Amino acid sequence: MTYNFDEILDRSRERSKTWDPRGLKPGQLPMHGAETHFTCPYPVLDAVREVASWQVYGYPYFTDDFENSIAGWLHRRHGWKVDPAWVDFAGGIIPGMAFALQAMTKEGDQILINTPAYSPFRGVVQDNNRVLATSPLKISEEGVFFDWEDMERQFADPKTTAFILCDPHNPTGKCCTRKELERIAQLSKKYDVFVVSDEVHADFVFDGGKHICYSDVSAFAAGFSCVTVNPSKTFNVAGFRTGATIIPNEEIRQKMRVKNAAVKGISRNITGVAAFEACYDGRCDDYADQSKQYVESLRGELLDFFENTPIRMIKPEGTFVAWLDCRGLGFATQEELLSFFANECGLLMGDGREYDQKLGEGFVRIAYGFPRPQLHEAMERLSKAIKSR
Ligand SMILES: Cc1ncc(COP(=O)(O)O)c(C=O)c1O
Repeated sequence: MTYNFDEILDRSRERSKTWDPRGLKPGQLPMHGAETHFTCPYPVLDAVREVASWQVYGYPYFTDDFENSIAGWLHRRHGWKVDPAWVDFAGGIIPGMAFALQAMTKEGDQILINTPAYSPFRGVVQDNNRVLATSPLKISEEGVFFDWEDMERQFADPKTTAFILCDPHNPTGKCCTRKELERIAQLSKKYDVFVVSDEVHADFVFDGGKHICYSDVSAFAAGFSCVTVNPSKTFNVAGFRTGATIIPNEEIRQKMRVKNAAVKGISRNITGVAAFEACYDGRCDDYADQSKQYVESLRGELLDFFENTPIRMIKPEGTFVAWLDCRGLGFATQEELLSFFANECGLLMGDGREYDQKLGEGFVRIAYGFPRPQLHEAMERLSKAIKSR
């Protein structure tokens, strides 16, 4: 099946947080929400319509199609041989992460993240009464890198009991190499630090690169980690709140299940499961291929565009998000910068401070997975507004 990602969708009927009319002025283009603006794959629409066509929506039973679908996907697409028994439902990446932290760390423990960071990582640590520790990424013309000296110091702190890895990384688009993942696994082993790996952006790795699932990097990593996945980003199905955790170690899996079982009522639902299975069981591989190719071509256009502006786009190696260094525009405050984008360009951008209060000053995060004509419109608006400054 061929998809037409150039098609501009009318999203006003949806309850989309990104397009929430209460937060958008007429004509503004929301570039702050981390989603694409393409149609869902048709097999997902069919699967959900099939469920909708039932006459009664009673208490459901589920089959092992759920576990088999994601296990098959991870093997087929990312080369990781997953036993379906390792898979558990999670109501999203962050809920899965919360259970993993509850199972593997104690209140008061220190949990390490890299900054800038997807802001719910902060919440999941602090709302679970753990203490946040941060290791800033080194961002330069050459790329985005871990600061290994700092990482080792933080892993070595006896209070640090878990590390949240985000690969591919939101907001910078950094994609880890095997060597980097191996080094994280070595630190994890040396200092007994559990790794929770958020791989929600895994299907967007560019330049012919391949995503490597963290737990697949060594036997040790497999035994002391939890990978969280969700078809939300790749297939534009975030509203179903249906993701999964993958934990190869049985003892850890059981600990997680105890935490899960304690919160009665958090369970899968019929439409979310139908969509999840359709995404992952082979019906939508063509969509994922085409979407990645399309997004990669948008990235190329944006990189060229920003070359000729005072804004520096940190080259994303993957994902459909980008981290923009806007300090060259010369605004005195972040408020002025955001207001310039919102009012002079009609573009809502993600405030860099959400990703790091200090490092994010002068930066914005955009999600650029728009139909090409819409992205062109955004670039034209930017170009005009920058020129007239
Ligand atoms: C790195 C990262 N993790 C998790 C999420 C959200 O995941 P979910 O779709 O499960 O809510 C996002 C969404 O922006 C994200 O960028």
